[in-house]
Amino acid sequence: MITQATIDTVFETARVEEVIGDFVQLKRAGSNFKGLSPFSSERSPSFMVSPVKQIWKDFSSGKGGNSVAFLMEHEHFTYPEAIRYLAKKYNIEIEETEQSDEQKATVDFRESLFLVSEFAQKYFHHTLFETDEGKAIGLSYFKERGFTLETVKKFGLGYSPQAWDAFSKEALGKGYQLEFLEGSGLTIVKEDKNVLDRFRARVMFPIQSMSGRTLGFGGRILTNDKKAAKYLNSPESELYHKSKVLYGIYHAKQAIAKQNNCYLVEGYTDVIQFHQTGIENTVASSGTALTPDQIRLINRLTKNITVLFDGDAAGLRASLRGIDLILEEGMNVKVCSFPDGEDPDSFAKKYNYEQVTEYLEANSKDFIQFKASLLMADAKNDPVKKADLIREIVVSISKVPDRIQREVYVQECSRIMDISEQVLVSTLAQLIQKDGIEAEKKGRQDQKSFQVVKDESALNSAPKVDIQNEIERKIIEILLLYGNAEEEFEDVLLRNNEEGEIEQYTEKRNYKVYDRVYLSLHEDEVELANPLFLDIYNNIMTFFRQNETFNTEHYLMQLPQDLAQEVTDVLMDDEKVALHNWEAQNIMVKDKSHTIGQYVTETILTLRWFLVDKIIEELKKDILPEPDADNSETLSMVMDYYKLIGSFSAKLGRVMSRYHN
Ligand code: CTP
Ligand code: MN
Repeated sequence: MITQATIDTVFETARVEEVIGDFVQLKRAGSNFKGLSPFSSERSPSFMVSPVKQIWKDFSSGKGGNSVAFLMEHEHFTYPEAIRYLAKKYNIEIEETEQSDEQKATVDFRESLFLVSEFAQKYFHHTLFETDEGKAIGLSYFKERGFTLETVKKFGLGYSPQAWDAFSKEALGKGYQLEFLEGSGLTIVKEDKNVLDRFRARVMFPIQSMSGRTLGFGGRILTNDKKAAKYLNSPESELYHKSKVLYGIYHAKQAIAKQNNCYLVEGYTDVIQFHQTGIENTVASSGTALTPDQIRLINRLTKNITVLFDGDAAGLRASLRGIDLILEEGMNVKVCSFPDGEDPDSFAKKYNYEQVTEYLEANSKDFIQFKASLLMADAKNDPVKKADLIREIVVSISKVPDRIQREVYVQECSRIMDISEQVLVSTLAQLIQKDGIEAEKKGRQDQKSFQVVKDESALNSAPKVDIQNEIERKIIEILLLYGNAEEEFEDVLLRNNEEGEIEQYTEKRNYKVYDRVYLSLHEDEVELANPLFLDIYNNIMTFFRQNETFNTEHYLMQLPQDLAQEVTDVLMDDEKVALHNWEAQNIMVKDKSHTIGQYVTETILTLRWFLVDKIIEELKKDILPEPDADNSETLSMVMDYYKLIGSFSAKLGRVMSRYHN
């Protein structure tokens, strides 16, 4: 594991504007930078970076956070990957925590395999471009397939020479150890201890991880030798797990997220040709049925997947069953087949971007509908076959985790297959009941449909601003912006005057803002109602107590991701003002920092006022309407609360009038 010290150094060194500047064109806007959102296509900038707060916010998608959050969002890095990326960018040496010898050996072994793979990729690439054999055989083959030089470079394609051990010799000469060469599968050690290259006289396709590191290779033979396999792939190793990689994912991830759809093809060349045509949200499963691990890789980027089939019908039927797996992951699946004899590669080579996208749009069909029509065509008027097909289609429908979506499918399939919905529903019920796992999944799905309903109601009530929430948000904002500042506050105290009567007087005293907020809320036993705000509130109070100094950068670093997101939102709301250029339109934005004390007092009073008001409304409901009912107790309580509100308003008046001076 990377040590906390390294992580701290990385955070202290990385400048969010520099990190993002490598991916997004940023322009100065006052004390901030702005640019076009990299997460959506837009014409006017709504992406904002604050160098002072060291955070960013994308107002079009609502995403935001620090530099690491940006890399995780934009590059789809995991947290350690993002830290490593930043360490590399800023030349920070990574310290790892003490590991057991065994752990160390595994990490070292994997890392060594990486180094070997990366060396091999460079070697094959170099051989393709710089040797006579590579140019004459490899490069001309790629040209013939219609790949431009730019494409060949982008995918790091290469050529392995026709020799027994050219690569292995070169690598050994460069100091790479045989253990790792063999471990990566690139070198085969024979019984007589002689070494042999696995890939010989093949064009090479490096297979990259999500973050762009070379994991293994596919090598295509160039002769028409029917006996030899057309493609040879790296064997399974510590590094390369066929079932866990998707060819092209490194180059496709951004487009997949942006287009919110992923095209799934079969082969290396399909991916490359699609990318070259301009359809970059394309990956390949490399000839096998999609595995759950691969589906999850895509699921990190989008919920929508379109499976593209070659023109031959046999392959199509074979793949249908595998697609149920994708449905199980809750993804929306479409399928699209190509004209007879065409595969995505040949099709994209023949037509341009507009033509291919047009074809895909016109011919992509919802998977279940597609399967229903296909099976219907098979069964025609054969009632026995038709019974089988009902079962088969219902199996697919049963894999869909969302209940509402399942219902829609039942309706559609009943129409397509001319079967009553009732038959489908009861078959479905049988299937779901029989399967124990399904019961659990139903629970998951019911939660989801509840979610939908909840979202809708939130939508309906959207125009009504939740006042309490707004005030609580303001309190969080105060703590973030001024929590550690020392400010003057007015305390209202009681004393005996000379006549021995109790009188009120005020006294000015200095408080840390966070202390003042804490004491005021505590006094009334007020707790923030929004659970997220409450979490942040508790977290930040602890932070203030444990740390002498406070800056948002430091604070955000130690905050769990979900809280960090909310904190960024609160902080960046301030900057939205600058984004809309309100200053230029002569709308003055009140500068809170001149009157922090008043501002804090005002906000807390407003919250107390609001809460007391709520109590009064509740009490009023208890007042009995009957003429002879005794409401005296309730009424006296209501009166007390009104008095309290009176005192708030007097105080607020004082605060406010001074505020406006
Ligand atoms: N494949 C493989 N081993 C084979 C054949 C195929 O690993 N012996 C994988 C490769 O990833 C290949 C994919 O399956 O890209 C699709 O195979 P196929 O359709 O036969 O090849 P194409 O991609 O069409 O290759 P080409 O156009 O170069 O013939
Ligand atoms: Mn092909």
